[in-house]
Amino acid sequence: TPASDAPRKRVLLANPRGYCAGVDRAVVTVEKALETYGAPVYVRKEIVHNKYVVRTLEKRGAIFVDETDEVPEGALVVFSAHGVSPAVHESARERQLRTIDATCPLVTKVHQEARRFARDDYDILLIGHEGHEEVEGTAGEAPEHVQLVDRAEDVDKVEVRDPNKVIWLSQTTLSVDETMERVEQLKDRFPQLQDPPSDDICYATQNRQVAVKAMAPECDLVLVVGSQNSSNSKRLVEVALGAGAKDSHLIDFADEIDPSWLEGVETVGVTSGASVPDILVMEVLRYLADRGWEQVDEVTTANEKVAFALPRELRKAMSDVR
Ligand code: F3S
Repeated sequence: TPASDAPRKRVLLANPRGYCAGVDRAVVTVEKALETYGAPVYVRKEIVHNKYVVRTLEKRGAIFVDETDEVPEGALVVFSAHGVSPAVHESARERQLRTIDATCPLVTKVHQEARRFARDDYDILLIGHEGHEEVEGTAGEAPEHVQLVDRAEDVDKVEVRDPNKVIWLSQTTLSVDETMERVEQLKDRFPQLQDPPSDDICYATQNRQVAVKAMAPECDLVLVVGSQNSSNSKRLVEVALGAGAKDSHLIDFADEIDPSWLEGVETVGVTSGASVPDILVMEVLRYLADRGWEQVDEVTTANEKVAFALPRELRKAMSDVR
């Protein structure tokens, strides 16, 4: 019958996807700062790497700047979820800025590790993407002890003072598999290389990769909702392709879907990065439903219950206002 020849269109929807606890906390921090202090609230760098989130907060009175020297003296500035180096705190102090630090606690944890191993005079090999804000912040904790390892070529360039006193740390939003490859390469050169005291790649990054891996082999196409500058979102495209998805694209919005991607496609996987509000995913599902992909099955690989308290300085200001 003709019906059985028709493509069986279905969507696999990854779970977990989207907002992690650190992003949720950072976005709510800016919202509450606007409510508590009134606009404008300055934010150093994008609070989280998502276009829609940044635009929405801008409309409510947030002003995003690249550096603290763009913030008027004495004004309020929020530091983004990706963390900042001590030098940034210092320059904010010099300008007498009031600060709220929305750094994700899991990034802060890596900063603490960097400080601790620098204090113990280790050489620290930081696996991460060159130029990413998080890496700049973490390396800035101990610039004289940290060397960045990004690509495979970088492994050969590393030089350490004492091969028995070397530790690797990492950015929180890397590909788990790629990071382990890099660690193996480093261990070939430095067999005594120590592992971090606990996972630096955060639970949210890991969980989103596990979910996309589970569905990718069945997918002709995986759509990852997320911005181009979002590290963890970009990794989801790579992980999807590596795990057997025939095609995968990163999109900010449903209207970026190129209809040619859907030609001959039956199963579409959908997921989103840790900085992506679910409303954007719902728009993608609506776009697909309008074109015949009405059946949506969730692929659930973890149940997340992590939540972080708002920054202390903000909680205090909120209770003073009441
Ligand atoms: Fe934090 Fe991981 Fe999210 S480091 S901001 S929980 S992606």
